[in-house]
Amino acid sequence: MNTEPIGVFDSGVGGLSVLREIRSLMPGEDIIYFGDQGHVPYGPRAMGQIQDFSEGIAQFLLKQRAKIIVVACNTASAAALTYLRQTFPEVPFVGMEPAVKPAAEKTQTGKVGVLATPATFQGALYASVVERFANGVELFQNTCNGLVQQIETGDLNSEKTRQILQNALQPMLENNIDTVVLGCTHYPFVIPLVEEIVGEKVRVIDPAPAVARQVKRLLETRGMINETGGILRFVTSGEAAALKSSLNILLGINSEVETIIWKNDLEIVA
Ligand code: DGL
Repeated sequence: MNTEPIGVFDSGVGGLSVLREIRSLMPGEDIIYFGDQGHVPYGPRAMGQIQDFSEGIAQFLLKQRAKIIVVACNTASAAALTYLRQTFPEVPFVGMEPAVKPAAEKTQTGKVGVLATPATFQGALYASVVERFANGVELFQNTCNGLVQQIETGDLNSEKTRQILQNALQPMLENNIDTVVLGCTHYPFVIPLVEEIVGEKVRVIDPAPAVARQVKRLLETRGMINETGGILRFVTSGEAAALKSSLNILLGINSEVETIIWKNDLEIVA
């Protein structure tokens, strides 16, 4: 057993869709969540900069004694997962990749839509996922410009949010997709809207439950599972009040939120 916390991070509130699954699978684990809301969104940024942020956050989480780090962000995983594993070889990391594999296995039409940020589509990780798993399935990719910001402000159901999704999904629907992959951890919070737009014949894939199972498997293999805790701690590089309100809207959680400050965008002053 290891009673140190699981560290989870994202550019903002997206990783909460992963935290929710980890929490429901392993309620006895302490979790420390870091939302880099001082820098959100990551999607349009340069890969090198996202890598620097990710390293600073990993260092911060390790200072808080995290026993495992979940990169609950497809964009940060695309930009930094390999680098983080090389830089901190003793630390187990779990990252996100667009769920092309289950989608390719399930599609009947052989046509699958993928929604993710520009940086995720640019990264080598996505290219490798497509090469390994697309298996002749045709992929229709789209970014959802502005959607992350809508979700950050808790605007899950407005006309503007619907329009962003409609614009991204319509060309895919016209191409007869029957499966859509949510390749950004923010997007599961608008699943009701996605389902309304795509209709019941299109399957929506959120990889968060599979990622939570992977975290559990890794902890089990290393004898690190904790069933005696359950404390959640939330930290942001943005406004504490904003994350506090998102916790309420997105997860129904009432919790204190701590604020940290970045030094030169490379190091976190706790
Ligand atoms: N939640 C993120 C992801 O999974 C990042 C979104 C963003 O900051 O642009 O890609």
